[in-house]
Amino acid sequence: MKWDQAHLLRQRVGKAPPRPRAKVITIVSGKGGVGKTNLVVNLGIALSRNGKTTTIVDADLGLANVDVVLGQYFDHDLEHVIKGEKRLEEIIGFGPYGLRIVPSASGVQGMANMSPEERERLITELATLEYNTDFLIFDTGAGISRNVLAFANLADEVVVVVTPEPTSIADAYALVKLLVTARAASGIALVVNRSLSIEDGRATGERFMMLAERFLRHKVRLIGVVSDDVLVSQAVRRQHPFVLSHPESTPSRQVDAIARSLAGETVSPIAERGLLLGLKRLFGGR
Ligand SMILES: Nc1ncnc2c1ncn2[C@@H]1O[C@H](COP(=O)(O)OP(=O)(O)O)[C@@H](O)[C@H]1O
Ligand SMILES: [Mg+2]
Repeated sequence: MKWDQAHLLRQRVGKAPPRPRAKVITIVSGKGGVGKTNLVVNLGIALSRNGKTTTIVDADLGLANVDVVLGQYFDHDLEHVIKGEKRLEEIIGFGPYGLRIVPSASGVQGMANMSPEERERLITELATLEYNTDFLIFDTGAGISRNVLAFANLADEVVVVVTPEPTSIADAYALVKLLVTARAASGIALVVNRSLSIEDGRATGERFMMLAERFLRHKVRLIGVVSDDVLVSQAVRRQHPFVLSHPESTPSRQVDAIARSLAGETVSPIAERGLLLGLKRLFGGR
């Protein structure tokens, strides 16, 4: 029996885990193209640089691009795991400062289209990450889909990314409303990206928090504002993350602040439930 299988079994019989469980974060947005993947990659690097073992999972099944933003390509991806050709451990790629990357395959069908065995395999393999990393971050596709809600459900904290555009705000509000109604998220945090000034970003964030509190009776935590900066789009074109190329720039410092804010958070009740059980409940595996 492989070590991680034994480990999973120990978890199932309720023995104490060898290290603290990961803080699970899922990054979502209403509208697409607001900067999720960029945030995931740069945040992952920032956390790793601060000494936190961090694993990012490209869970944008269908339109994967963590590798593109990172400028690193990997031989294997989640599709190999789903098909049973590889173990998760074998497909993990390594980025800057030891950042661990679970690549997704573009064109992989959603969870709903997987066979029961494929789903079970994906669940069991993803659950092995729970005690292997300090931070486990899922990058998702835009909008409301079964996949996005499923990954939101697993998270200790869902981070909603918005831009100050009214369309982005409206779509994000609809998504938060759904998350709250479906009780799909323990904690909801907000990042305002592409802000023209810090004040403007904060004002956007505060308006959003007020709306959520007033109409959804849910406290959303504003964890950061990232400026609209040509450095960010240049970094994407050059496929070299800005926290590496311009560590002292405003966007890098802002991403660092988000990393610190996430690291200082207390753990939610999901921690008691455990990732494996959560995954099984979500995807219907038994
Ligand atoms: N803070 C920013 N400043 C300038 N451009 C940005 C910023 N954030 C994102 N972008 C631009 O938006 C594009 C889409 O970002 P991406 O992370 O792929 O969005 P998503 O994953 O939400 O679809 C990037 O390629 C980049 O050009
Ligand atoms: Mg993306």
